[in-house]
Amino acid sequence: MDLDLCGKRAVITGGSRGIGKSIAIVLASEGAEVVICGRNKDSLEKAAADILKETGKSILAVVADTTKTASVESFIAAAADHLGGIDILVNNAAAPGGLVMGPLNTANPDELLADIDTKVVGYMRVAKAAAPHLKNGGWGRIINIGGLAARSAGAISGMRNVALTHFTKTLSNELGPQGINVNIIHPGATRTERTAPMNQAQAKERNVSVKDVEDAASAGIDIRRIVESEEVAFLAAFLASPKSSAITGEAIAAGGGVGSAVFQ
Ligand SMILES: NC(=O)c1ccc[n+]([C@@H]2O[C@H](COP(=O)([O-])OP(=O)(O)OC[C@H]3O[C@@H](n4cnc5c(N)ncnc54)[C@H](OP(=O)(O)O)[C@@H]3O)[C@@H](O)[C@H]2O)c1
Repeated sequence: MDLDLCGKRAVITGGSRGIGKSIAIVLASEGAEVVICGRNKDSLEKAAADILKETGKSILAVVADTTKTASVESFIAAAADHLGGIDILVNNAAAPGGLVMGPLNTANPDELLADIDTKVVGYMRVAKAAAPHLKNGGWGRIINIGGLAARSAGAISGMRNVALTHFTKTLSNELGPQGINVNIIHPGATRTERTAPMNQAQAKERNVSVKDVEDAASAGIDIRRIVESEEVAFLAAFLASPKSSAITGEAIAAGGGVGSAVFQ
């Protein structure tokens, strides 16, 4: 199936590593024109070079912080100027897992606010700046990268993903009549550049092998392995494409079937 992404103009927040970078690679491979952002210039430049090497496509990488409204506005203006408009927005920039993971007595309200400022208000800032460009084209896709913590209790920071699910459906209601579909992807534990060093540290701490750590992490996942960031990117590419025309306002997991809860 051709995803018809050739020439589509895509903006991805947090594209310098991890899931965002994988989405940039898959969209560029499918012929989309891509702009990414992140806060660190060196990682952005490295990501742009990696993406060029892997896909043959030159992308624009812009330093921007999604917690700052002025920074978001100038990032989106630069992206729209470079691309000649925007068709696709992937909201992804945030700290994986969140900043407040422990019990209530250790939870820091300022860290929770920082989490929400980045992942919830940050996604809103970027969507608000980008939406007029999508409307101008009369067609668009917004994909919010949430997280499966939305579907199970355990970490206070998980509330940000629930908020984003609400935001997704609300935007779908508002923008659907203008040809813009809005969906949220919930990744589960996903392999990125962080995974190997994290597993090595855990293996050392527990005095077990790295394979033991990986096996334990995979035990509750139906496919019995951690999902690769590229697999999340494949779903994002489908949702970003014209082929996803009937799907909007939905929350779709890419967690390899983790857990046993049933969602209707
Ligand atoms: N990996 C997982 O297992 C997993 C599971 C569920 C959900 N998720 C979600 O997937 C998304 C990506 O996670 P990941 O694991 O790929 O994270 P990651 O490897 O840490 O990458 C995060 C990206 O976002 C950028 N970023 C962070 N804060 C930013 C800000 N304020 N402004 C602009 N850019 C910012 C980072 O660059 P700079 O630091 O240079 O700014 C980087 O490019 C997040 O929303 C995360 O919650 C991940």
